[in-house]
Amino acid sequence: MNKILFVTSEAYPFIKTGGLGDVAGSLPRALQKCKQDIRLLLPGYRSVMAQIKNPQVIAEAFHYGHKIRIIETPLPSSRVKTWLVDCPAAFDRPGNPYVDTTGNNWSDNAFRFALFCLVAVDIALNRCNLGWQPDVVHCNDWQTALIPALLNGYSERPASVFTIHNMAYQGLFPKQQFFELGLPSSLWHPDGVEFYDQFSFIKGGLAYADYINTVSPTYAREIQLPEFGYGLDGLLRHRSDRLSGILNGIDNDTWNPGSDLHISYRYNKQTIKNKSLNKTELQTALKLPIDANLPMIGMISRMVEQKGFDTLIGALPELVKWPVQLVILGNGQSYYEKTLTEWAQHYPHKISVRIGYDETLSHRIEAAADLFLMPSLFEPCGLNQLYSLRYGALPVVRDVGGLADSIVDTNETSMANHTATGFFITDNQPATLVNALQTALQLYQNPEVWRQLQVNAMSQDFSWLKSAEEYVKLYQLARESIAGGDET
Ligand code: ADP
Ligand code: GLC
Repeated sequence: MNKILFVTSEAYPFIKTGGLGDVAGSLPRALQKCKQDIRLLLPGYRSVMAQIKNPQVIAEAFHYGHKIRIIETPLPSSRVKTWLVDCPAAFDRPGNPYVDTTGNNWSDNAFRFALFCLVAVDIALNRCNLGWQPDVVHCNDWQTALIPALLNGYSERPASVFTIHNMAYQGLFPKQQFFELGLPSSLWHPDGVEFYDQFSFIKGGLAYADYINTVSPTYAREIQLPEFGYGLDGLLRHRSDRLSGILNGIDNDTWNPGSDLHISYRYNKQTIKNKSLNKTELQTALKLPIDANLPMIGMISRMVEQKGFDTLIGALPELVKWPVQLVILGNGQSYYEKTLTEWAQHYPHKISVRIGYDETLSHRIEAAADLFLMPSLFEPCGLNQLYSLRYGALPVVRDVGGLADSIVDTNETSMANHTATGFFITDNQPATLVNALQTALQLYQNPEVWRQLQVNAMSQDFSWLKSAEEYVKLYQLARESIAGGDET
């Protein structure tokens, strides 16, 4: 059994802005089932603190002139102990974990997440009198990436594992902030947290973690290429012997069309015909023409360049000529929000766009859609294609990262041996997206073939168990690496 401190800036259902929230809300439960002794460490944001009935203070820390309380509470519907870092100066504010209510990054993000990392280090080094010292600190994304750097050099320290959920977000700040935060000056060099004279949080993880992983094997290879490495591919190639890919799993209870309380008509492989009732219900709700036979294409996503919205927008002039409905839910960059909303206004019978974050609607779209579109330029793992498989909404995906690792393209062979689960878009050209959708829609015309594809998709198992076991192996490797004294 390993003692694991799992450090993350979001975890569902407490707080979620994207896939990291899903992963951090479900992987720790799976690790607990694999007999790991796990604690989840999360900032005590205002919206999270509001959910805690009886805050139980178990320890205190002190950084940057602020008294910090560590509060223990279970992760809802689980036995995973969550420790909240309660520091009002850093976390008691509106907006989301990273941006204010107008969508701009909080100007003191370097301070907020450095403080969070310092508390994690206190716990890791057993300075909080908690009677519990981790064997491994598992860090996730840039907000936690200073932890491996700060731990480096201590002899009685836990091992560190750093998981990259997205190389595009690096936590880059002006050099001056590094020194203002009083971080060890020994970290300020090109092999440390300096990145072209800027302060890079993510480099703390990439340069100092005992082991690094990302959330799919293909993305682990891609980020070692200049095209996907955001200037850090060289460092990642240098550390390739400590870098691997572990595909994310999903929470099969939250995402189960057979028991989903967000949807009106529940179904499984045997009762898949009920799926179309969810479609007509959603058509009614979204004021789209009601027709169970019209193919519905769904999309649920942060509206950012990564997700391939430029490819989609380039394909819309062709798609609106077809007898299909496109249902999009998301929010993000105002250009995409505005452009897509305008398309929906011009083609109200074909396109429905909901701007916002809506958990219930996201489940209803999965249950209603025949196809699910993800034309991402890159995708470390992606979760929606996995949810879509479960809901029999066949994914049409760019063949990159975790999308390539989780979807099997439909062709003669994969249809014959019942492994086909979706459709690949092989580049970022709008015409290629159009072709992939055309291929899918031709097959949609043949109900028997379509049913088989849905059954193939719904038979896939992406539950966490297998991946959690791989994490346990990684923890073991990380522990052995420091026990042997081969410090990085
Ligand atoms: P990423 O983490 O890059 O955003 P993922 O596919 O890994 O992409 O995870 C996205 C998660 O966020 C999924 O659970 C998805 O359903 C959810 N999501 C994204 N946008 C919205 C939205 N507007 N409303 C509800 N859920 C959303
Ligand atoms: C990131 C990635 C996404 C991945 C998620 C969880 O946000 O963009 O592909 O699924 O993290 O690992």
